[in-house]
Amino acid sequence: MPTPRRLLATGFAVTLTALLPAAASAQGNLTVYCSVQEEWCRPMMQAFERATGVRVAMTRKSSGETMTQIRAEAANPRGDVWWGGTGDPHMQAAEENLTVEYRSPRMSELHPWATRQAEQARFRTIGIYAGALGYSYNTTELTRRRIAAPTCWADLAKPEFRGEIQVADPNTSGTAYTMLATLLQVMGEEPAFDFLKAMHRNVNQYTRSGAAPARAAATGETLVGITFLHDAVTQKIAGAPVEIVAPCEGTGYEIGSMSIIRGARNMENAQRFYDWALSAEAQAIAGQANSFQLPSNRNAPIPPQAPRFENIRLIDYDFARWGSAAERTRVITRWEREVRAGAR
Ligand code: G6P
Repeated sequence: MPTPRRLLATGFAVTLTALLPAAASAQGNLTVYCSVQEEWCRPMMQAFERATGVRVAMTRKSSGETMTQIRAEAANPRGDVWWGGTGDPHMQAAEENLTVEYRSPRMSELHPWATRQAEQARFRTIGIYAGALGYSYNTTELTRRRIAAPTCWADLAKPEFRGEIQVADPNTSGTAYTMLATLLQVMGEEPAFDFLKAMHRNVNQYTRSGAAPARAAATGETLVGITFLHDAVTQKIAGAPVEIVAPCEGTGYEIGSMSIIRGARNMENAQRFYDWALSAEAQAIAGQANSFQLPSNRNAPIPPQAPRFENIRLIDYDFARWGSAAERTRVITRWEREVRAGAR
């Protein structure tokens, strides 16, 4: 039996060794896969580091790409949190068991659309923002080409837009997948594929990242860019000559989401980040970084520039269906075979 004195000494030594490495590495580490714009990813990670002392390693990749990466790393996970990007691939990751259930104490602060997303994914993902889909066009180039201003999805299949439209690739981009699922819901599957084949002749490039076409429309590199409306707003407020269109037939939207990766090495910090990212203060960083989505926390400020859903003809997007692994895989495969592979 150790004497009480020895016990005390041992206890002290244990406390010290437990404290020392902790102090040296501050609050530990966190690896975040970020799928919004780099301009928003960076200040978000810096603010979390400042608030907690946790060191964040962040990688920015598009939503579809990130899901593929998490799946490829499943046996040896490298990421802890996947923050941002469209909800459909987060839903698919949940279904494929790549992410874990977590019920944040902040859930009660969120809009119902954000918690419904969580319920549908058995709490393996949650909504952090929302934004509607549409397109923008360069007004200078439109006038120069003497083309009538487009207002509907159907306009984008017209011959005068040959080579003038840019949109991302749904394999990598959640934005582009949202467009596929939206058109299928707005038009019905067969008419939507006929439309996509006709529009394919007008597409000058399928980009890797979803927001790239908004930048290309802003510079005039393309006439029309299909993106989320808020990505076009970012360009417009920077002074680009663009008009933003919420298509006349109606349009879909995303519930930008967040998930904790199964097997996260820094689980405690992952949950800490998750709770923090749902707070009104953390969500206020979006507007400061010129990202104009609608925040999921009811107390977070809505940036005045954010496109409001009340002013847009929105469809009742079925996230459970279009976020399911079977549907997402089927629709992208059909698009590859029937649209992408076609001549332009
Ligand atoms: C942009 C938008 C986000 C969206 C994301 C999806 O960053 O601002 O609202 O979630 O694109 O990115 P992706 O490259 O996957 O289409």
